[in-house]
Amino acid sequence: MKNILITGAFGQLGEACIKQLSSRYNILAVDLFVPDDKQNAQSMALDISDPDAVAVVKDNFQPDVILNLAAMTNVDGCERNPAGAKSANVDAVKYLADGFKWHFIQISTDYVFDGKNGPYSEGDSPNPISVYGQTKWEADQFLESMECMVTTLRPNVVYGYTKYTKASFVKWVVDSLTQKKTINIVDDQWNNPTWTEDLAEVIERGIDEELKGIYHYGGDRVMNRYEFAHIIADIFELDAGLVQPIKTVELNQDAPRPLKSGMKTDKIEKALGIRPKSVETCLKEIRNQLTS
Ligand SMILES: NC(=O)c1ccc[n+]([C@@H]2O[C@H](COP(=O)([O-])OP(=O)(O)OC[C@H]3O[C@@H](n4cnc5c(N)ncnc54)[C@H](OP(=O)(O)O)[C@@H]3O)[C@@H](O)[C@H]2O)c1
Repeated sequence: MKNILITGAFGQLGEACIKQLSSRYNILAVDLFVPDDKQNAQSMALDISDPDAVAVVKDNFQPDVILNLAAMTNVDGCERNPAGAKSANVDAVKYLADGFKWHFIQISTDYVFDGKNGPYSEGDSPNPISVYGQTKWEADQFLESMECMVTTLRPNVVYGYTKYTKASFVKWVVDSLTQKKTINIVDDQWNNPTWTEDLAEVIERGIDEELKGIYHYGGDRVMNRYEFAHIIADIFELDAGLVQPIKTVELNQDAPRPLKSGMKTDKIEKALGIRPKSVETCLKEIRNQLTS
């Protein structure tokens, strides 16, 4: 049974990966903090920006696969704290990869692109417009120079909603509309949103097939965030009239956002023989899980 070290394991994608992988692999789930009810022999606290601590964990656990989900993901937070973003998103990747000879899976992002002419394929040239995007792109470039097998997966707008989810667009929309709050959602940011559990299945296939290289992933069609919020409202039978359109520029955020983004999935579909799910299918599954 392969040993898989999952970093950032208690974030939204981590939770789905633990659920997907733990019956078939020997998992060590690490994160900055381990939730009280997740403390066990398969979990521990690890700050991946601490090179000595990372080396000790790798020595002791001897991973066959490092699945790096950990990142400073607060895009505006990265803009305000570029040193922290570099530490978590670039330097830490180097510590994890240092001397590692097996399979390294890195979760990158569509934010490596500028959002001028998405959806993007793997051959398109990155041109990040934010500190977050820049740091993720630096990590991608560093990993391309590694001798071990590297899979760089680039999803966009990753969403999940379980009782453990800390932050997710779907959770925020559902919770706000349930509380009958009006929400302003941008109608000029385009993506094909990615369900965490769908992506976790792709990651499992990537481990099994020893997938090597850069791959893009996302749901089956590109839509703007306002449309996505309307679909969420419909599936959860909430009042879509509370969703108001707004432009990104009106939000006055610290970091610029790639507007016309989205990820083309042809390459990974061909490599793994998969089809991305529709956003409706994924949201219905989330709704069923929450109510069962
Ligand atoms: N969410 C998206 O829309 C999206 C889109 C494309 C790509 N991605 C990428 O997908 C991956 C997973 O994203 P996600 O949505 O699951 O993010 P998330 O929920 O923020 O999870 C990331 C986890 O990493 C932890 N972390 C941060 N710094 C760390 C450090 N120095 N050492 C150890 N753990 C650290 C975070 O802890 P704290 O919460 O305590 O900081 C969090 O638990 C990330 O690499 C992200 O860049 C995400």
